[in-house]
Amino acid sequence: MPTGPIVRINPYELHVRDPEFYDVLYSGPGSIRDKWYWSVDMFGNSSSMFGTVPHGLHRLRRSALLPFFSKQAVTRLEPLIRGLIEKLCTRFEECRKTGDPVETGQAYAALTTDIITTYSFNTSYGCIDDPGWKYEWPKAMNDGSRTCHLNKQFKFVFPMMQAIPEWIVEKIDPQVMNLIKFQKDLARQIGELMNDKSAQSKSTQQTLFHELINGDLPPEEKTLERLADEGQTVIAAGQQTTAHFLKTVSYHILANEGVYSRLKAELKEAIPNPASIPPLAQLERLPYLHAVVLEGHRVSYGVVSRLQRISPDKPLRYKDWVIPAGTPVSMTSVMQHEDPNKFPNPKKFDPNRWLDAPERLEKYLVNFSKGTRQCLGINLANAEIYLTLATVFRRFNVELYETAARDAEVAHDFFVPHPHADSKGVRIVFK
Ligand code: HEM
Repeated sequence: MPTGPIVRINPYELHVRDPEFYDVLYSGPGSIRDKWYWSVDMFGNSSSMFGTVPHGLHRLRRSALLPFFSKQAVTRLEPLIRGLIEKLCTRFEECRKTGDPVETGQAYAALTTDIITTYSFNTSYGCIDDPGWKYEWPKAMNDGSRTCHLNKQFKFVFPMMQAIPEWIVEKIDPQVMNLIKFQKDLARQIGELMNDKSAQSKSTQQTLFHELINGDLPPEEKTLERLADEGQTVIAAGQQTTAHFLKTVSYHILANEGVYSRLKAELKEAIPNPASIPPLAQLERLPYLHAVVLEGHRVSYGVVSRLQRISPDKPLRYKDWVIPAGTPVSMTSVMQHEDPNKFPNPKKFDPNRWLDAPERLEKYLVNFSKGTRQCLGINLANAEIYLTLATVFRRFNVELYETAARDAEVAHDFFVPHPHADSKGVRIVFK
């Protein structure tokens, strides 16, 4: 039976499938948007800004972190990002010499983890230096998201797991244990910063967590428990989505000879000396690279779960319908990015669709979501993406290694996209 654009998908929530409605739901001007209490416990960190239900409290929490993710802040961070990409390229060069394949999901998770942990704590998790990419850390975050639906449905399960002895949790569910270990490690690092008087002096190098501890938030917002919740959001959000993007876009570039050669040609012309990668602002202006990035955002989706928002004070209007204030309403990036009316032949990876497109096509790209709750790390993510793609594809001749389209597919919605469980990932070799 055909369905209309609005479906009541459970007793409380409406889902809307119409790209024109996205801006109304997520970013209507001056609009107040709460999250829905039902979904915010999914990662066991509901006192983070990500898990905050009311609009006003969310604003307070987010404002404390905003300066760290502005365009200027990311420009200041560029040397750190470049340094870690250089390190990654040194590893890639070693693999080129030995002919060993690299699994891009793990390699890029190492890069994004090292960037966000250095930025947050001034001590990197050291994933790039490790022969196995210290994949246990990103894996802990990825495993943690596998239980997100269970945590929403049965809110007592995760707090119970946090409270019982670790050896029991390890036996019942090793994936949950990995997430708990990650949370404990974050709490330990933040606790150390809170107790370190020298770290509280303005003269020491200020990281994101120094600033949160010393900043203007009221004392009740600076408890160890809350800051650890915030740490979990920042580190996991900083790691997972960008690594997924880089893995997915690498597959599509390499699986499409025309895309690969055109990208390489543009990079060769714009970057005569591969050892000297231009500033980010210059890379962002390269038309084909820009189109590849936009198309990469489209096919990697961002968050794949439906994202609920509530207008607590005013009804929402959709065409002839009025949605009462207080109703959880959601939309889904996958449906939006695969809408054939906006993106014809949506399964095709086609950067050309962005080259001659009217600017308004970008309005339908929602991988970062929109409005007050949209991704905080957009500038950081884009810096990582442009610098990595330009450096790797300018310097190396790359081929896929025993990788098929299925390996780049999204097979599971665990809030963030997950691949098929039996996939060996998107593997590449350097020639
Ligand atoms: C391609 C990369 C990325 C994508 C597609 C992405 C996507 C998203 C989306 C869709 C949301 C909204 C989630 C919701 O409504 O519940 C979000 C939130 C968030 N993202 Fe990202 N993200 C990316 C990279 C990053 C990076 C590098 C950081 C850096 C720390 C980051 C930090 C955050 C934070 C802190 C939030 C919560 C914001 C809030 O609740 O106000 N993200 N992201």
